[in-house]
Amino acid sequence: MKKGFIAVIDSGIGGLSVLKRLVGELPNEDYVYFSDSKNMPYGNRTERDLYKLTLDNILRLKSNFNLKAVVLGCNTLSMTIRGRLEQELKIKVFGVFPPLILSKDKKTLLLSTERTANEYKKYNLNAQVKILPTLAKRIEDSAPDFSRVNVKSLLPYKKGEFDNVILGCTHYDFVKNEIFDHLKPRRIFCGQDFTVNFIKNYYQNRKSLDKTYRNQVLFFGDDLKINEKVWSLVVKNVKLYDKKV
Ligand code: DGL
Repeated sequence: MKKGFIAVIDSGIGGLSVLKRLVGELPNEDYVYFSDSKNMPYGNRTERDLYKLTLDNILRLKSNFNLKAVVLGCNTLSMTIRGRLEQELKIKVFGVFPPLILSKDKKTLLLSTERTANEYKKYNLNAQVKILPTLAKRIEDSAPDFSRVNVKSLLPYKKGEFDNVILGCTHYDFVKNEIFDHLKPRRIFCGQDFTVNFIKNYYQNRKSLDKTYRNQVLFFGDDLKINEKVWSLVVKNVKLYDKKV
């Protein structure tokens, strides 16, 4: 059984929505969370920039922790550089991706950063794409009181206009209820659940899940305080964004 920390990283608090699900599904693992808010938003950066920043950040984590895997708790990083990072670092790198909805007769809206939208468009999928260049930062800045984020002004659509809405940025999980109430789709999707299932299966199949009851969740880096605060005030206890849709 391989020991070591699973590192979850993002530009900010968005990856906490992945960490929450990971801790729920794989409770005996050790986690370290790192975010890079001095360089956020990631969503309008170039691939080159994202690669350099993230490589440096993971190397910094690696020199402080024995890492068994890295989870990019960020659609922007996952869509752009996951494969390159895994090759370079020789460590398992998981990512979060906007779910693909293949139905042709349903109207689907993807909400995402600019980089994720550009990558997503390459697959020519049947979804309308709305880039939200400022939303992740607004969510970050309003933490831990997400009711201050006005999603309505950013989404000029009618209620029920879309059957499906895909939240293509991990930060948007914090305003999922507001997006649901404003757009009233039939369903809201995000990549976090798929990722966590994938990681669980990956370790189960290799029989390398940790069975010792440790479950440490550590926070590391300059954003440690805000991440810890959002984790303990919102993510860990309160189900602010758990509307079942
Ligand atoms: N939470 C990230 C994502 O899923 C990054 C948002 C940003 O920094 O622009 O894309």
